Amino acid sequence: MDETLAIVDFGSQYGQLIARRVREHNVYSTIYQPGISAKELSKIKNLKGIILSGGPASVYTKNAPGCDEKLFELGVPILGICYGMQWGCKVLGAKIKPAQSREYGKAVISVLDTSDLFAGIDDTATVWMSHGDQVESLGKDFDVLGRTKTCLYAAVRNKNKKFYGLQFHPEVSHTPKGNIIMQNFLYNICRCRGDWQIKDFADSAIGKIHTQAKDGIIICGLSGGVDSAVTATLVHKAIGDRLVCIFVDNGLLRKNERSEVENTFKDHFHIDLRVVDWSNQFLTALKGVTDPQEKRKIIGHQFIEAFKSEAEKISNAKYLAQGTLYPDVIESGNRDGNLAANIKLHHNVGGLPAELGFELLEPLRDLFKDEVRDLGKYLGLGEAIVWRHPFPGPGLGVRIIGEITEERLKVLREADEILIDEIKAAGLYRKVSQTLAVLIPVATVGVMGDERSYENVIAIRSVDTGDFMTADFSRIPYDVLGLIARRIINEVRGINRVVYDISSKPPATIEWE
Ligand code: XMP
Repeated sequence: MDETLAIVDFGSQYGQLIARRVREHNVYSTIYQPGISAKELSKIKNLKGIILSGGPASVYTKNAPGCDEKLFELGVPILGICYGMQWGCKVLGAKIKPAQSREYGKAVISVLDTSDLFAGIDDTATVWMSHGDQVESLGKDFDVLGRTKTCLYAAVRNKNKKFYGLQFHPEVSHTPKGNIIMQNFLYNICRCRGDWQIKDFADSAIGKIHTQAKDGIIICGLSGGVDSAVTATLVHKAIGDRLVCIFVDNGLLRKNERSEVENTFKDHFHIDLRVVDWSNQFLTALKGVTDPQEKRKIIGHQFIEAFKSEAEKISNAKYLAQGTLYPDVIESGNRDGNLAANIKLHHNVGGLPAELGFELLEPLRDLFKDEVRDLGKYLGLGEAIVWRHPFPGPGLGVRIIGEITEERLKVLREADEILIDEIKAAGLYRKVSQTLAVLIPVATVGVMGDERSYENVIAIRSVDTGDFMTADFSRIPYDVLGLIARRIINEVRGINRVVYDISSKPPATIEWE
């Protein structure tokens, strides 16, 4: 891996998304702040090109962010996106003004030149716009590559300076041919070979952990999900025996979950895994509690207590490794490197680092979920972990409506196991995003054999989503639903009715509580 693409981030929402698109084309990329000098950029090993991101500012205002103008003398191709285009065009002699009408959303671009950046794209393409300013008149040596009805200079090129500008966002999925544009830039224009692989990410992450955590113990809270599993595996490869993993059994786990985690990490990877059985404390504290918010609060609190009780037994623990992903970082609105603020309650070990004075390690901070799955596969984690559906921190606790009791947990565990087995057997597990069972402790009348039954309901929920912020219900074939219902009613004592949840999010949520 020796080719690098530098991304200069002008404060875009999409900085990491651009980096991710570049990685998708097997080219390594690094994000820099606008303050980086051309000289520093020139020292990057095998720098193949630069992308200037979008950003919220206007180039003509005081204090608008800008880059070292000597960038254009480095001799590498530069692609400016939105604000990046406006800044580049301004430096090369263009006038930028507020657009007559702010353009936000889909637009159709007429392609005027298909010789390089738009190679393989026909006359028109749907693109995603999001800007208030635009180029009003170009400097010399510019060609126009594309325009929309309201934006005369939607795509431009300055051959002498190897500069390309796009007023729209090729990196978002709403620009369906953005991928081709990115590929053209990287391969035809920057002449990248594209030999970067997820293995290279793993090597560099392991190297960084090694350098950052020179001595002392690194603690990692394992939940059994793919993010924490990949984090623990990376750390283990970096520092071996100095890693101690903590898995909290909160009594709200799925069937066999604890033993699966133990098998994988203790037996297979030989990681020092401490299982804290805190189930009694959790279930005692939850006794009689029916309010969902109250349940979450209690679970969060007990989780911290459990983790703390174990962490305090470990001497010389200096670091806490967490599986924070890029979408978590964005969600918390924190991109300035203040790591501590990123911790979500219920997600791993909320609140702990500040209290115990750990230094945080977050090797997956720049990655998206599917990249973490690729990394997990590369690191040798099994299918069951790599493709595991998300499971919330509060576990089955928020899938039992009303009070949580041992008996209800047992019923839900059995139903959940059948559901997941059948979804897997039908080949659907990897197609849907998340599948779950909810116990509704409302008795309904049924007939079993010759007898009247009066038992509870299981609701099945399965959703398709990219980001879990919005979701639609999965179109599970009726036959599969029928089989699941039959098996649950026949095999799980206490259930005589199964329903399928067909609500979307919003207005519903994925979990029921
Ligand atoms: P909702 O129900 O908010 O769920 O639509 C969106 C995604 O988040 C998961 N979820 C949680 N994860 N702690 C977690 O770690 C929680 O308290 C929590 N609540 C919901 C949910 O399973 C889904 O994937």
